[in-house]
Amino acid sequence: MKMPTLTRLDLRQRIDALPRINIACIPTPLQEAHNLSNELGVRILIKREDLTGLAMGGNKVRHMDFCMADAIQKGADVSLNVNPWMSNNARIIGAASRRVGLDYINVAPASKSRPIQGNLLIQDIIGTDMHLLDTSEPSEVNEYVDKLETKLVEQGRTVYNHIKEHMSRSSATIAYMEATLEIDEQLKKIDITENIEMFIASGGAHGGLMLASQALTLPWTVHGVLVGQPEESYADVVTWSNNALNHLGFSERLTWDDVEQLDKYIGPGYAKPGQDCIEAIRMVAELEGILLDPVYTGKVMAAIIDYAKDNRFTEKDTVIFVHTGGLPELFDFADELKRRDYT
Ligand SMILES: Cc1ncc(COP(=O)(O)O)c(C=O)c1O
Repeated sequence: MKMPTLTRLDLRQRIDALPRINIACIPTPLQEAHNLSNELGVRILIKREDLTGLAMGGNKVRHMDFCMADAIQKGADVSLNVNPWMSNNARIIGAASRRVGLDYINVAPASKSRPIQGNLLIQDIIGTDMHLLDTSEPSEVNEYVDKLETKLVEQGRTVYNHIKEHMSRSSATIAYMEATLEIDEQLKKIDITENIEMFIASGGAHGGLMLASQALTLPWTVHGVLVGQPEESYADVVTWSNNALNHLGFSERLTWDDVEQLDKYIGPGYAKPGQDCIEAIRMVAELEGILLDPVYTGKVMAAIIDYAKDNRFTEKDTVIFVHTGGLPELFDFADELKRRDYT
């Protein structure tokens, strides 16, 4: 699939035609990582999507500008979501829902005996009605959610069910088509016009950067890093991107042949950091004082480190690491992350 060539104004106008509210603190900084660049022998910039402002930030906050506008337009008074314990999506949807005056219910599969820590703790603090289930069996979870939704409707509530609403996920692609305009402008200001190697965890935002950089004919290669096996890691780039293209009035559609996902950095699995991920988190923390998370961004940085050590960058390249946040999950992985016991 080939995106039609667009001017920046064309893309801006399509995005501006969508309903929107302003929740995200954007633009976020694009920062030089001097020490990391020296260490790895390639210029590295960090796009600080961990600084988007709501409930400890992350990429998802940008999505909420479009998703919550959709919920409000549909007259919702309660946001209903299904996401497990480690989910940043659950935290940000919750915080954004509260911000716009909606109640928030999250059904969390396979989370019954989890400590109330990280993203679950934040959901508790913001006043989420949390349903922690033992099961992760899809038919059981669906039955539970269907019953809950039916009960809410019988009570006269207008439910925005994030599992059924396209905009909940395709807002990621839309938001990162917009972020492409933002990054392009930031790069121009520092005179970087060629050889951009961008790394991001694969998902809706990956789709947005890919589609928009192609439409604007930018000199970017966008590497989407899988952080779990495709069936376990919420990375349906194709469906989410195609829904976004539909919302933006494009007739083009992505297929899986158009999407490259790097699968070498998954480690033991989704929400299971390998040694390369843990070392990447420590390296960036030591050199830059910037924290990464063990579920998403640590694995993306492990990919950049591996590419650098493997001499896969040239001296003309600029690497952009999209730091998509996820920081509350550091605290759920203390055992894996701490360097030693202190007893
Ligand atoms: C920290 C972090 N990075 C990246 C992603 C991928 O997000 P998306 O599919 O919205 O691009 C997620 C999704 O949960 C996330 O929490």
